[in-house]
Amino acid sequence: MSIISNSLKRIKPSPTIAVTQKARELRAAGKDVIGLGAGEPDFDTPDNIKSAAINAIKSGDTKYTAVDGTPALKKAIIKKFKKENNLSYNTNQITVGTGGKQVLYNAFMATLNKGDEVIIPAPYWVSYPDMVLLAGGKPKFVKCDEKDGFKLTPQKLKKAISKKTKWLILNSPSNPTGSGYTKNEILKLSKILLRNNKIFILSDDIYEHVRYDNFKFFTIAQIPKLKNRVLTMNGVSKSYAMTGWRIGYAAGPVEIINAIRKIQSQSTSNPSSISQAASVEALNGTQKFIRTRAKSFKERRDFVVKSLNSIKGINCLKPNGAFYVFPNCKKLLGKKNNFKKDSDFVKKLLEKANVAVVQGSAFGLDGYFRISYATSMKNLKVALKRIKDFCEKLN
Ligand SMILES: Cc1ncc(COP(=O)(O)O)c(C=O)c1O
Repeated sequence: MSIISNSLKRIKPSPTIAVTQKARELRAAGKDVIGLGAGEPDFDTPDNIKSAAINAIKSGDTKYTAVDGTPALKKAIIKKFKKENNLSYNTNQITVGTGGKQVLYNAFMATLNKGDEVIIPAPYWVSYPDMVLLAGGKPKFVKCDEKDGFKLTPQKLKKAISKKTKWLILNSPSNPTGSGYTKNEILKLSKILLRNNKIFILSDDIYEHVRYDNFKFFTIAQIPKLKNRVLTMNGVSKSYAMTGWRIGYAAGPVEIINAIRKIQSQSTSNPSSISQAASVEALNGTQKFIRTRAKSFKERRDFVVKSLNSIKGINCLKPNGAFYVFPNCKKLLGKKNNFKKDSDFVKKLLEKANVAVVQGSAFGLDGYFRISYATSMKNLKVALKRIKDFCEKLN
């Protein structure tokens, strides 16, 4: 009998972390590999945020804090929701965790019973299905079409709902496609959700601040009749280039927030006191940084989309947020090139062209691949040239 639990056997390690690790190993072995797999900004954390952390250490802010976040950070989060999303929350509706990842994990652990279904629009962020499985739930995948910008439509949502549906996950702007839902699209989905008062909505807003072309961010908790069924998750990782600090948070129904705290109190307790102090500064301090970095991401997005669309056999939508693109490579698959799946294409791209990307099937949609353009323009130029040369040899 194996020492490993049955619940762990249901899940797999994160494929995006695996690609990043593989690229790192190849580089260590002397290969000139460019990694376009990692989902983190290449920018450094701003200095005012670093100083807040140094001050926290110096002033002895180095002890346990309240399990679900310091009063100062909760206050800053409440202020953020009010100012940016026009949403009002009380302190007992906020929880802070070690990254958005922990908050989501706790939310599923706190709410799912065996067989409860979670609607996950595909392509999805790789961790959702495995978190749901680990918590005993059942992912219900809904494939979204490229022609719909890879977004969930009301018709598809309606079809996916069953008596067992507990959660719907919405992620806008999305990892891996970069697509954002407009207010109108969210209103249409809400109409379906308002017909059934049992479904809760998990809104993953982690890429809220990474958006382009005047795309107006709208989050489903802003629909008043749904607000008491929405858990909104957000964090400082992507917006403030703070992936290593591990601070994420959520706002929502008191019952769920209390349950999340209960789990956290028996696992990790509070997130790092120093990272929490830094996050107070991230949320309360100057936000200028967000705009200047979004401008830089936009330049890279434009370059990457244009370059990809100049390659025969590849087609790429221009997304309005996050730092990913999700090009279609279906024309390059098939017998002719000996690629059965997108993963075969991606594997050869790494072996022959030294560029690491992640196959679409890892995100639940075969025939695509994800590029993270959160790397320097210099790297992107070389990588896109290599991808072009590689694909043109195939054609
Ligand atoms: C869609 C999405 N949600 C949540 C997270 C979690 O971010 P963190 O745990 O760094 O806050 C990520 C990180 O890659 C993500 O892409």
